[in-house]
Amino acid sequence: MSDLHIELTRGWDLPAGDARPQFDVMIMAGDLTPRMERGVAWLIDRVPSDRQVIYCMGNHEAYGEDIDRTLEKAKAAAAGTHVHALENETVRIGNVTFVVCALWTDFALFGDQRREMAIAAERMNDFKKIRTDRYAQRFRPSHALARHRRSRAFLEAELRKDRPGPLVIVTHHACRRPELRLSDPPKPDELLSAAYYSDLTDLMVPAPDDGRDALRPADLWVFGHTHQSFDRVIGQTRLVSNAKGYGPWPPGEKTWENQDFNEKLIIEI
Ligand SMILES: [Fe+2]
Ligand SMILES: [Fe+2]
Repeated sequence: MSDLHIELTRGWDLPAGDARPQFDVMIMAGDLTPRMERGVAWLIDRVPSDRQVIYCMGNHEAYGEDIDRTLEKAKAAAAGTHVHALENETVRIGNVTFVVCALWTDFALFGDQRREMAIAAERMNDFKKIRTDRYAQRFRPSHALARHRRSRAFLEAELRKDRPGPLVIVTHHACRRPELRLSDPPKPDELLSAAYYSDLTDLMVPAPDDGRDALRPADLWVFGHTHQSFDRVIGQTRLVSNAKGYGPWPPGEKTWENQDFNEKLIIEI
């Protein structure tokens, strides 16, 4: 699951006790809460210590924080527990390899990167509420793009490594083209989806050994950020998004943003 946004949730919690579904590993694909260390504490409180949690940071994890500092605090809070707070890192549980990164985006969906970045800078809170460089600078689309490039290279390198069993990628940002019909000329709102999606479908089909070993696509790719549900195979990879989104909010509201969210979704691998 992803995008629980507990900062904008009242009167809902993870299914507990008899209502908790059977699982070995919980995937939390970002936007659990601002300040990732708080997300770690929230998970340690709720998820029994005989299960494991893969926790990928979303953009909101860094709100009100320095993006690297909150990750460091999260890692310190998670050390020695069953929660794994990961960024550009791989963890193996049983024979399953989990490859984790926030991902960000390449701002290249529509072929006008400069404009897509300018619109994101103007309209996304990410570029107002996140600090970088030890709090010295505001996080900008160019920082997001640099992080995306690093993460894309990381994912590709991991897909070219030997592995003993299935591989699961966990990212916060989306990895495929959205279904969108653009106006002509495109409206800024439409171009803003370049801050949500990048087309990484070339990582979902096998590629031969070009001197860097053959690329074998992931079995499963879990992502979030769009606050929509998605479950479809592209190439050889099953893509799944199971985001709650905001709410119930304000207090007293009964429901959450994505009506298709399944708080008990289980994936067998
Ligand atoms: Fe979100
Ligand atoms: Fe997000």
